[in-house]
Amino acid sequence: MRTISRDQRVHLRLTLNGKSVSGAAEPRMLLSDFLRNVLGATGTHVGCEHGVCGCCTVILDGIATRSCLALAVQADQSSIETVESLAGPDGALNPLQAAFREHHALQCGFCTAGILMSFTDFLRREPSPTREQVTEVLGGHLCRCTGYTDIVEAVMAVVNVPAAASTNLREGEGS
Ligand code: FES
Ligand code: FES
Repeated sequence: MRTISRDQRVHLRLTLNGKSVSGAAEPRMLLSDFLRNVLGATGTHVGCEHGVCGCCTVILDGIATRSCLALAVQADQSSIETVESLAGPDGALNPLQAAFREHHALQCGFCTAGILMSFTDFLRREPSPTREQVTEVLGGHLCRCTGYTDIVEAVMAVVNVPAAASTNLREGEGS
């Protein structure tokens, strides 16, 4: 088994939002810190660092994951999607993001990246959820601003919208 001292940096290679990237991480570096401080993906926010608030959620190998509960080294050779993957290259919002804007589902926005990534993952697996299922998923996130109701409304607005949870259909495309 390979032994790594606590101060030794490990070179990691992974796919971030469809692009091959690499960077060095100390063995105990959190994935959230690696994404923000090494790879520059600062759209991923860090709140509690204890797996409670959900704002650091990214999609790791197809599964919504709290990046504050994973080590960077665990993401070697993985594929990660962050909130930066959702809008188009020209900044056009995808349908889920557009629904958040339309339904006033964010205020300060600190929690929003994590919530968007949780529902991106969830809607891929369950494109026709009930309001109760949406509320249950949202239960894994803390928001100090919105009171949650508008977030549920935003998600319900894209239920059964084709490609709502993908990056393929942007706001304004096809209209
Ligand atoms: S910062 Fe990861 S769950 Fe709060
Ligand atoms: S919009 Fe401010 S914490 Fe959710």
